[in-house]
Amino acid sequence: MRGFIALSSRSLLAGVMLLAFSAPVAAQTAPTVPAAVLAAQPSQAAEDSPTVPTLATAQPASPGHPQNDERMKWFADAKLGIFIHWGIYAVNGIDESWAFYNELISYDDYMKQLGGFTASSYDPDRWVSLIRESGARYAVITSKHHDGVALWDTKMSRLSTVESTPAGRDLLKPFVKSLRRSGLKVGLYYSLLDWSHPDYPNQTKTVKRYTDDPARWENFRQFNLGQMAELQKEFKPDLWWFDGDWEQSAEKWGAAGIRETILTRNPEAIINSRLAGYGDYGTPEQGLPTRRPKEKYWELCMTINDSWGYQGNDRNFKSPSQVIRIFAECIGMGGNLLLDIGPKADGTIPPEQEEVLREMGRWTSKHSQAIYGTVAGLPDGCFAGPTTMSPDSTMLYLFFTGNGGGELMLEGVKNRINKAFVVGNGTNLEVREYLRPWWSGHAGVFFIKVPETVLDERMTVIGVSLDGKLKVE
Ligand code: GLC
Repeated sequence: MRGFIALSSRSLLAGVMLLAFSAPVAAQTAPTVPAAVLAAQPSQAAEDSPTVPTLATAQPASPGHPQNDERMKWFADAKLGIFIHWGIYAVNGIDESWAFYNELISYDDYMKQLGGFTASSYDPDRWVSLIRESGARYAVITSKHHDGVALWDTKMSRLSTVESTPAGRDLLKPFVKSLRRSGLKVGLYYSLLDWSHPDYPNQTKTVKRYTDDPARWENFRQFNLGQMAELQKEFKPDLWWFDGDWEQSAEKWGAAGIRETILTRNPEAIINSRLAGYGDYGTPEQGLPTRRPKEKYWELCMTINDSWGYQGNDRNFKSPSQVIRIFAECIGMGGNLLLDIGPKADGTIPPEQEEVLREMGRWTSKHSQAIYGTVAGLPDGCFAGPTTMSPDSTMLYLFFTGNGGGELMLEGVKNRINKAFVVGNGTNLEVREYLRPWWSGHAGVFFIKVPETVLDERMTVIGVSLDGKLKVE
């Protein structure tokens, strides 16, 4: 992970913005125009701005620059985010972009889905109220996946929901507006690679447009920079969630320059790790870490079933209890969970996913004190389950399923316990300490009795107030 030093790219960015936004709006096209043709026809804006400055020439970010903890604070405290993969892949219910890349379907057949993307029942306020209800403090939505279909009114290409689908409108704008109204942070997923773009080297795993053609690559980069400038201007994201960096090097993407531009424009912005090493936090994907990751800030991104986008055939849903347990593991190791939903092409959220979010909401609101603003809890071996801690380390939170064996065991903690209680319920609990003879310097072993009546059906949380800052063996 590398850091960043604010440099003077303000004028550079201003140039990009000016060029990206001063051009006329491209004319509306019928959604029946083949996608390959649409992608090959940049709108007037792009044609009119061949001289968009290249950020590759900007000074690179400085490796080793310390993380800006102030900038990361809201993210570290937020704990839960909702990821949204919404795109034309929901029409057939197939793998997002990968379906054609991996040649499970031809490119042209994949792109026929454009014609079925109606967003006819899309209600962004309803999405946002569900996200809020879940207890998430931020959302990250696919502004453009690897297939190149933009959900906003991009002037850099005609491959957007505005110009190329029956939805016929900017789908990001009302969602972002609604998020802001609700006080939620706005994250935009943006795929750096674009398998539809005529100047991007790869189209599928076997179809390559070119391998080495600096002029075409530069065209593509200007396109990318132009789209990012649009997103910045239009939506001012709090969080940039890049993806697809693996296909090119940091140098080729101009990753240092992209970071610099984003932070110059908005010094508060946070960038995920998938900017070829120039991000702020780690993004393990579909793999729950078993120990605390080495990154100070991290976020597990995870699907509710096995698919990022809507796939009606995928019934392998995780239950609310399973999602809650995974979430508790994440926060116990100091991370966040970015829980994905895949709305249908008409904009409705599948009921199974809605149910998980609502149950998360019941549970997160009941246990909010043990979740938001806490830090990673006890080291391994002290408690058989996830734990979190208040930032001043005087309060521990112990998470467990079932009845916890009737009493919980806590070891390795040298403090005295002032009080133990059931979070979100208030019942005070009986604590007994053993194995601490007067002559021993060791921590004792605590047993905390948990009556059946206080148990949560998903996961119960016990607050343990210590006599001072946590001291562990
Ligand atoms: C992967 C996939 C992509 C998905 C993303 C979510 O990188 O390419 O389809 O959007 O993970 O983390």
